[in-house]
Amino acid sequence: TRTIVITGAASGIGKKTAEILRDRGEKVIGVDLKGVEVSGDLSTPEGRRTAADEAIALAGGTVNAVIACAGLSAPKSITAKVNYFGMTEFLEAIRPALAKAEAPRAALISSMASMQPVAEPLVDAFLAGDEATAVAIAEQLEQDEAAATAIYSSSKRAISRWVRRVAPTAEWAGAGIPLNAVAPGTVVTPMTADLLASKEGSALVDAMVPMPLNSHQGPESIANLLIWLISPENTHCCGQTIYCDGGADTVLRGDDI
Ligand code: NAI
Repeated sequence: TRTIVITGAASGIGKKTAEILRDRGEKVIGVDLKGVEVSGDLSTPEGRRTAADEAIALAGGTVNAVIACAGLSAPKSITAKVNYFGMTEFLEAIRPALAKAEAPRAALISSMASMQPVAEPLVDAFLAGDEATAVAIAEQLEQDEAAATAIYSSSKRAISRWVRRVAPTAEWAGAGIPLNAVAPGTVVTPMTADLLASKEGSALVDAMVPMPLNSHQGPESIANLLIWLISPENTHCCGQTIYCDGGADTVLRGDDI
């Protein structure tokens, strides 16, 4: 049995990933605002630390894998806190417990939105680990409805870059821990339910994220990829953002590789 810590395990992709792993007999320690093993608020430094400490204690000190799913899509400054620092700081806090495990692995969720227009100063503040500046910029963007969408896209662009920067370092690759991200297309979860409920909302989403293969996806399509990324079979995938998006990346980015 492997012990796997999953943030955002109370809903959507995280919940489905936890279900599949439990069905396979793995020990899952979910972290979310409420309703799972560890209740914690990943929007604050204190909440991240406490949640990580509790998860490590429940795991008995050694964690085989961590999957960071918890995130928000609202065009609000809290999205900057949860989507970037709630993933990166949480993973860093769990890393020492991973380093003690057999075949340790880590994965998190980026998004197709990482390809949409971003606020570069916000991306820079994220990657500098400067939460005060990132939040100040996000609070500014939040004032303007059109500009505010860049909070989410910037958080995900920064996540994909962070993964590329840290995955090959001594702390991760050097410690034998593959770290990778998945970028989903439009996944049918509580996060997207309201948007997809109307024809207009659905059309808007499809214009931004065209999915020629099988259209909108269920959370299991992402869960199964995350599960492979954190499996012992993944020995060489390092620092990647893997698009599992019904072809949206190929349509949007074409030859740009
Ligand atoms: P969801 O809304 O169903 O689940 C997100 C979970 O994160 C919830 O259980 C929520 O309580 C938790 N969470 C939010 N703020 C938190 C906080 N401060 N502390 C602890 N937990 C917190 O959303 P879904 O769709 O499962 O999304 C999971 C991840 O996938 C997110 O990072 C999202 O940005 C990403 N994603 C989702 C897509 C979609 O179409 N649904 C597309 C691309 C990326």
